[in-house]
Amino acid sequence: MAALPNLLDTTRAYAIRVLAGLDDRPVAGPPTSTSRDPLPVDGVGTAGALKVFERRWDPGFSGSAGPRYLGFVTGGATPAALVGDWLTSTFDQNPTSALDSSAPDLERETVSWLGELFGLGPAHTGTFVTGATMSNTVGLAIGREWLGEQSGVSVSRQGVGALGEITVLSGSPHSSIAKAVSMLGIGRDQLRTVATRPGREAVDPAALAGELAALQGRPAIVVANAGTVNTVDFDDLRAILELRERYPFWLHVDAAFGGFAALSPAHAALLDGLAEADSVCVDLHKWLNVPYDSAVQFTRRQDLQVTVFQNSAAYLGRPTDNPDFVHLTPENSRRLRALAAWFALTAYGVTGHREIVTRNIEAAQRLGRRLSELPGVRLLAPVRLNVVCFAVSTDVNEVVRAVARTGETFITPTVYDGTPALRVAFSNWRTMPADEDRVFAALKSVLT
Ligand SMILES: Cc1ncc(COP(=O)(O)O)c(C=O)c1O
Repeated sequence: MAALPNLLDTTRAYAIRVLAGLDDRPVAGPPTSTSRDPLPVDGVGTAGALKVFERRWDPGFSGSAGPRYLGFVTGGATPAALVGDWLTSTFDQNPTSALDSSAPDLERETVSWLGELFGLGPAHTGTFVTGATMSNTVGLAIGREWLGEQSGVSVSRQGVGALGEITVLSGSPHSSIAKAVSMLGIGRDQLRTVATRPGREAVDPAALAGELAALQGRPAIVVANAGTVNTVDFDDLRAILELRERYPFWLHVDAAFGGFAALSPAHAALLDGLAEADSVCVDLHKWLNVPYDSAVQFTRRQDLQVTVFQNSAAYLGRPTDNPDFVHLTPENSRRLRALAAWFALTAYGVTGHREIVTRNIEAAQRLGRRLSELPGVRLLAPVRLNVVCFAVSTDVNEVVRAVARTGETFITPTVYDGTPALRVAFSNWRTMPADEDRVFAALKSVLT
């Protein structure tokens, strides 16, 4: 214990060096081949462990926290979020139950702020989960319980078999939706892909209406997409909501990063109708720039959520009108993920986060324009938000490797509408126009 202040000081100094060195660290690189050490029998102490880590593992870690890591959809950690995350471990709260700490109330406050940020109303309650995959899974689990309610069975008691055939409809679902329906016993084959609008990833409302009509009154789950991963396309939520007047379905919206369009005055209308969704997924380790892992899950039917996830036990208590988090997600004990988000929102407010989001969108738009002028480059969609999706005349995987070898930036491959493509996704708070220039120069050097 006496050594702790010095250890924390040493670690602080090291963390500062790491963060200050982000600009020089190769943004990505093939993992350095590291042979496994034997299990330490007598430990080397914390200072010793830090030295071993710095020597053996630090050099191979990517610069994913930095401004030019543009693969997948990857946020960084703002200073306030990092501080909140450190304190999460320092306080080491378990927000499972409200018997011993006000930590669960901090989570409730944070969730309500986030709901407001994304334009949701008081009808939506929420909880923290590890990521968008888990948020989608929880939303669909509640939807599955709702299907049971429609036909007078309880899935949580009788099992998913009591439902008979289940249909999940979506235009361009993220792969995590297929994973969720697999985990939930619904089955990947029941996820039916609905036709999209011509040349778009947004669902065609007429095609969706046709699929719903074919169910002849049988309730379904519709997964709407608010920001697809390839071209950041948005389903027309208002058109889908109109269908809900005629057909019974649970509307889940995957707004993993598209939810942050709410912060950009020029794009907020893309989310019109979100407040009427039955469940909503938003990732926070993407565009809120809090460290992994963090996402939020919202629903209008917390009662059904409790039915699915309740974990009543003599020592934990039963769910009340204000249920403890232990009754709301697959996890029981867990860390207080809300603290990093609370710090970020408290430190920068809506205005600060709007600045990050709009700066990232402008960066994507500028880079899209510059890339489209390069010979052999073809944008596969307009830059709708923060992602540039483009085809090249050479092998995309080779381009990804060559770009990574520059050490300057990192982008990821995909396939869009059958065409091998590349994605450049901006969601890091550190990315400035000078970084865009470096990214463009690196891409140009590989592509021309
Ligand atoms: C639209 C969408 N949904 C879900 C996910 C899954 O997110 P996570 O990896 O945080 O679980 C992603 C990740 O990129 C996404 O873009």
